[in-house]
Amino acid sequence: MEKMLKLHSIIPVAMTLLIAVLLSESAITLVSASNYPRPFRFHRLQYYVQLDVRSPGISTRFIPPINTTRSANFGAATLFALNVTKDVAPASQQLGAVRGYTVETSYLGFPDSALLEVAMVEYDDGIYKGTFQLQGLAQQQLTELAITGGSGSFRGARGYLVVTLVVDQLPTRTFRHDVTFF
Ligand SMILES: *[C@@H]1O[C@H](CO)[C@@H](O)[C@H](O)[C@H]1NC(C)=O
Ligand SMILES: *[C@@H]1O[C@H](CO)[C@@H](O)[C@H](O)[C@H]1NC(C)=O
Repeated sequence: MEKMLKLHSIIPVAMTLLIAVLLSESAITLVSASNYPRPFRFHRLQYYVQLDVRSPGISTRFIPPINTTRSANFGAATLFALNVTKDVAPASQQLGAVRGYTVETSYLGFPDSALLEVAMVEYDDGIYKGTFQLQGLAQQQLTELAITGGSGSFRGARGYLVVTLVVDQLPTRTFRHDVTFF
């Protein structure tokens, strides 16, 4: 009899807990539903970056080398703000921009090329919207950059990005970005 009573008093407690869990789950759903933009759930993204070397969107004289005699190109920085498009054609749907800079970090005593790139991608395809931050070594052949964070749909993003030169017909250069999020 005592056991029965205990069981009966446990059931309402369990029910209350269950209801509380259900309520908090629906509360979470409501919060995320109104929390536009939608979090990015897929693990890959691909887009193109358009570079017109004549446009004011690129400045190779952002910061000059420290002293070319003593330090080669060390310290030279390029500033860029380029369009991001859905397809390889510059006139295809614009999805955003990539803005940032590269700094030459090699000098005469350390002659291998070491171009540090720091950039931010602003992305909006109508469903996913936000920014993600890039850092790494820019190279002629293969550039792989680390994704170190983000905002909006890409909050807390981690991953890497591979840059491939797909069109090299001056004054136009088009790069493809293959993005993998962990
Ligand atoms: C980037 O996009 C803007 C606005 O759509 C356009 O005016 C500009 O010409 C584009 N720049 C390049 C280099 O394609
Ligand atoms: C660059 O460095 C060399 C060697 O130290 C020096 O002779 C020259 O004056 C420097 N040039 C400038 C512009 O500072």
